[in-house]
Amino acid sequence: MDNIFEKAKETAGFIKDRIKDIPQIAIILGSGLGPLADEIESKVEIDYKDIPNFPLTTVEGHAGKFVYGLLGNKKVLAMKGRFHHYEGYDVSQIVFPIRTFKVLGINNLIVTNASGGINKAFKPGDLMIIKDHISFFAPSPLRGRNINEFGLRFPDMSKAYSPDLVELCKKSAQKVGVDVKEGVYAFAQGPMYETPAEIRALGVLGADAVGMSTVPEVIAARHANINVLGISCVTNMAAGILDQPLCHEEVMRTAKEAENNFTRLVKQVISDWEV
Ligand code: HPA
Repeated sequence: MDNIFEKAKETAGFIKDRIKDIPQIAIILGSGLGPLADEIESKVEIDYKDIPNFPLTTVEGHAGKFVYGLLGNKKVLAMKGRFHHYEGYDVSQIVFPIRTFKVLGINNLIVTNASGGINKAFKPGDLMIIKDHISFFAPSPLRGRNINEFGLRFPDMSKAYSPDLVELCKKSAQKVGVDVKEGVYAFAQGPMYETPAEIRALGVLGADAVGMSTVPEVIAARHANINVLGISCVTNMAAGILDQPLCHEEVMRTAKEAENNFTRLVKQVISDWEV
């Protein structure tokens, strides 16, 4: 993708014409967690296929549209469906929505995903606040000429997930009575699930959960100085933790079961968030 800043301006202009406002928070909804978008009021929906410069999603369980409107008294722009590395997109395409958010004037982002639990204290259905990530095995979305309009050549990642937002999320979770875990999310390229040896290795490295998304978006968001809160739904135990094979159906089923807690938590976070 060339001229990313110019393209993001064109795309942001298109979205702004449709929503006629500046959203306060963007939310990326992960696997099976899309129904949160149904709770948005006074909706404006924009299909990705209608948006200039936008890629299309291909994976089952991911629609491809923006839903803009009010949620928990805030103006939110939700992404129902995101772009994954395993689908064949270039990393610059995966993070293009984040760049568009920045040009739209959005400085707050909630990222959600499904993950496999590595930490043995976790169980399927748990929600984990992401405190940090490991991204050694992925090409950086910032590779190539730095786009100075977005941020620095060598951006700091030491507080990639805002500690203030981690605290806010913990308080919001208490209010709605949802038990939340905290941990480190490791990126895996997919689409195959990991091997038990890879999971043991990731555990040694300090990962609590593993998944195939989120990290590229968070890197691009932090490059552009966007505040990030990450929440992961642990949909299964990672490979080799239990003596059973992994499958996409289990991931979708658990995400569906956790949907109610997840939705209540995110709505509470949004209404508690002082933006
Ligand atoms: N591994 C990678 N990605 C995932 C998993 C997993 O076990 N579960 C959900 N997404």
